[in-house]
Amino acid sequence: MDEPNIDWDSLHQEAVAVAANAYAPYSEFTVGAAGLTDRGHLVTGCNVENASYGITLCAECGLVSDLRRQGGGRLVAVCIVDGHGGHLAPCGRCRQLLYEHGGPSLLIHTDDDTLQLEELLPDPFGPGHLRGLGDGG
Ligand code: THU
Repeated sequence: MDEPNIDWDSLHQEAVAVAANAYAPYSEFTVGAAGLTDRGHLVTGCNVENASYGITLCAECGLVSDLRRQGGGRLVAVCIVDGHGGHLAPCGRCRQLLYEHGGPSLLIHTDDDTLQLEELLPDPFGPGHLRGLGDGG
């Protein structure tokens, strides 16, 4: 599926640009993420590694921080790239992070398709469970 109102080329460009600011001396694998919010704002993030490898921050963590820094809103579309501009799927932990702020219909650009987050994270745990709603919404 595709969403005609999303300027994926521009999101891709922003993701590539922010990947250049990544701090990835250990993996040497730079990542950039760019997203569009329902308020029309651009949010971005890059991965930030640490000598204590396990506490590395993925690019999507930075993107979610940027979302909150800008005052919040819901994520509508996200594009994640490696240092060469190739599309990446978010890691498992980041699927959960993105779900919190975009929900099941969040669009993620992959190599040859645009997917909804619910396809990447089926049957999710989410805020709805904490409210006793019995589902993740
Ligand atoms: N990485 C991300 O930034 N996002 C992902 O979704 C996958 C992995 C980063 C973490 C680490 O700095 C590097 O890629 C190698 O795993």
